[in-house]
Amino acid sequence: MNTVDLIAKKRDGGALSTQEIEWLIANYADGAIPDYQMAAWAMAVVLRGMDLRETVDLTLAMARSGEMLDLHGVAPVTVDKHSTGGVGDKTTLLLAPLVASLGLPVAKMSGRGLGFSGGTIDKLESIPGLRTDVTPEEFRRSVRDIGLVIASQTIDLAPADKRLYALRDLTATVESIPLIAASVMSKKLAAGADCIVLDVKYGAGAFMRTLEQAHLLARTMVDIGQCAGRRIAAVLSSMEQPLGYAVGNALEVREAVAALRGAGPSDLVELCMQLGTQLLLLTRNLERSPTKATLDADEARHMLEHTRLSGAAWHMFRQMVTNQGGDLAALDAIADDADSSAFALLRAPVVIGLYAPQDGYVASIQPRAFGLALSDLGGGRKRKDDAIDPAVGFILVAKVGDAVAAGDPLLYIHAASESDATHVAPHLIAAYTFTDQPPDTPSLVSEVITVEA
Ligand code: URA
Repeated sequence: MNTVDLIAKKRDGGALSTQEIEWLIANYADGAIPDYQMAAWAMAVVLRGMDLRETVDLTLAMARSGEMLDLHGVAPVTVDKHSTGGVGDKTTLLLAPLVASLGLPVAKMSGRGLGFSGGTIDKLESIPGLRTDVTPEEFRRSVRDIGLVIASQTIDLAPADKRLYALRDLTATVESIPLIAASVMSKKLAAGADCIVLDVKYGAGAFMRTLEQAHLLARTMVDIGQCAGRRIAAVLSSMEQPLGYAVGNALEVREAVAALRGAGPSDLVELCMQLGTQLLLLTRNLERSPTKATLDADEARHMLEHTRLSGAAWHMFRQMVTNQGGDLAALDAIADDADSSAFALLRAPVVIGLYAPQDGYVASIQPRAFGLALSDLGGGRKRKDDAIDPAVGFILVAKVGDAVAAGDPLLYIHAASESDATHVAPHLIAAYTFTDQPPDTPSLVSEVITVEA
């Protein structure tokens, strides 16, 4: 086979065979195909697309380029979730212990934040001592012993995707539904879970700006998962404003813990109920699954609500924190907002309020402005290796649809210095728009895509 022929075939709108895709990825992963040829092929895919068979072949070839975790030796059934990313998105911190506390082991690899979008690993690492760089052995042991692990991608999953994604980032070839779907799903398949729920976000604060794009991406990922023999569902959720009220790493942990202890913001809790319900339904009728075969959506939601309100999910989260080396005293101090030395590092020294400039209703809140302002405060990353300050961020007071009078607080900025807070303040005020009449509030979940087993 010849790389130039394969690039030309795709350039001219042809479909590559399974063998051709396997050859291309194996040789790229080995370094035999140089970046410039792979970039040309990726651009041809952006312009010409790939059909589902090619997309599945690409996904599997990239997944098999590194270790494929098999977790069946440590748990009969394992589940996983993936979010396409947003602002204030702390769903994993709530959803994973909810589901794990119902006896379904959660084996989750998560990412760090980049640009306007946050990452679960940064949030978790705001708990002092907590390690996310677990080895494959520790990952398996945690699934077996406590049924919950959230790890960073230290395990070399889908190295071909890692290389290709970095190349796409530099060659304007990220924007392709088949390439994005294959990239995400190669890592999910390699991580080994039997059942996967995808939270595909759309809107101003999401990777996919429109519901149509999000639908296409979700459909493609669900089809890939199904072709690869996994149980999979996707929930399409709105990212037109930050999720919950907290944006920033330690602040988001505190909000997720509030939700785990029976309180917390209603949008965050509702999204986790919907994602959790889909996961529970996926585990029905699976060999050795603890879920009863006749479970329906109402019962699933009831189980999730019960485990949240009973404290069982909070207990599970604490077990995970201990298992991964985190400091429980510090976690309790974060959770209670206690003024203890354990929390001192996680409390920003400056807190400044921003106030409504007029009477009216909040019509919209630009989520990207919050994500970018978080990076400006030092709580997010502009480049991959930037260090982050876990304490900084925002607590929103008013969200879309809320009535405000001029001078009412809109949000509080938690910053390392007054000058940092003053620098981001105008961008945050500009992120709000107001109307005289109550606005339509966007529905949180627009669609669920699932495949019947
Ligand atoms: N996230 C990924 O993991 N891959 C993509 O291609 C885009 C977003």
